[in-house]
Amino acid sequence: MKVSVFGLGYVGCVSAACLASMGHEVIGVDVNQVKVDLVNDGKAPVVEERIGELIADVVRTGALRATDDVREAIMGSEISLVCVGTPSEANGSLCTTYLERVTEEIGAALAERGGRHTVVFRSTMLPGTCLNLLLPILEKYVGGTAGVDVGVAVNPEFLREGTSVRDFFDPPKTVIGELDTASGDAVRALYDGLPGEVFRVPVPTAEAIKYADNAFHGLKIGFANELGAVCQALGVDSHQVIDVFLADRKLNISPAYLRPGFAFGGSCLPKDLRSLVHAAQRADVSVPILSHVLPSNSAHLQRAVEMVERTGKRRAGLFGLSFKPGTDDLRESPLVELAERLFGKGYDLKIYDANVSLSRLLGANREYIETRLPHLAHLLADSVEEVLDHAEVCLVGTRDPAVLSALPHGEGPVLIDLIHLPDAEARRTEPGYMGLAW
Ligand SMILES: NC(=O)c1ccc[n+]([C@@H]2O[C@H](COP(=O)([O-])OP(=O)(O)OC[C@H]3O[C@@H](n4cnc5c(N)ncnc54)[C@H](O)[C@@H]3O)[C@@H](O)[C@H]2O)c1
Repeated sequence: MKVSVFGLGYVGCVSAACLASMGHEVIGVDVNQVKVDLVNDGKAPVVEERIGELIADVVRTGALRATDDVREAIMGSEISLVCVGTPSEANGSLCTTYLERVTEEIGAALAERGGRHTVVFRSTMLPGTCLNLLLPILEKYVGGTAGVDVGVAVNPEFLREGTSVRDFFDPPKTVIGELDTASGDAVRALYDGLPGEVFRVPVPTAEAIKYADNAFHGLKIGFANELGAVCQALGVDSHQVIDVFLADRKLNISPAYLRPGFAFGGSCLPKDLRSLVHAAQRADVSVPILSHVLPSNSAHLQRAVEMVERTGKRRAGLFGLSFKPGTDDLRESPLVELAERLFGKGYDLKIYDANVSLSRLLGANREYIETRLPHLAHLLADSVEEVLDHAEVCLVGTRDPAVLSALPHGEGPVLIDLIHLPDAEARRTEPGYMGLAW
């Protein structure tokens, strides 16, 4: 393919050289004349493993050249990769100035060019930037409709500085956020022959994936370092701890606990986090990540309360009360906390939890309910229907099949889904459905 690459920094320069080495005809564009000259001299404008030889090779064969002339690049290419910088502003917000400028320039050149061309944003940008900010600019300058007259896609890059050439040819994944199928097909063709799974997703999803990855990577490093510091202070070999931790592929290095859902609770996690943070504080070890896990959990629970408030309804129902399915353990159950917050705010609440009703009958948890939660005891309903008949707004915090099969579709009470119901995707478009964080 004939490819333009805008921005010859780390990302653009590696993408341009690697694509050229795959057989594409690539023209790099940068406003910085020094970078343009370096590339045309067969030299890398950035320091990276293998990039020097690669650029020398592809420039010698004519597969890669550089220019500062946007029009020249657009006229001679069918697809553009935008790799300009998106630095932080002083207040932490994303600077989109370079993206806006280059989109204007590409759009203006495309207006003259005619014929289909696909603009692919590779720069990291917040969800919504492409569709709400850049696409209108492009359409204005092109004088046409995106997805019809000009293709648009977002293709975040996951290369690591230092090993980016190697990562390009063996990527962890390829993510294509496509405005329309033809745009996605054009990006797909660009990487034909490379290994790794390809994900074709809506444009904002592609934008968000990059942030999910980088936030998680930062969180992992911070977690490991805080844990290391606490272990060190407690005289424990942190690397031995982490080696065993990493060996657990069921609960630790796995998808477990990584899907948006409801707050955690129970008799272990809150207690153990509290005592670990307390031990760190006693040892004068600062652990900002670990010490904010419980506040983060509480903030998530509060989101559910605020959702109920936003409905303006007063008669509420809650399905689920124990801290997780299949148990009647109510200790530090986030659903008990939720019920208490709603009760405290004066909601007319009814609660159904098959395990808790059963245990009440058998007396297993009777004492706990009667002594610790007497205010909730009389809110417990005996059937799913009793709650559905009562409630104008229902919070669903259990996967109990009896509850799931009784939940109405698009009529009856507003449904606040706390757990991402099995049919959440289908329900998202139904009136009265609210997902807690989806
Ligand atoms: N560096 C990385 O490892 C990495 C990894 C993944 C994603 N990203 C993202 O990729 C994007 C680029 O990062 P980078 O590190 O390559 O940036 P960089 O600052 O090294 O390079 C950006 C280049 O764009 C050029 N530029 C600016 N405006 C231009 C215009 N109108 N026309 C042509 N060129 C223009 C600049 O002169 C510069 O050479 C950023 O959004 C970044 O967050 C970077």
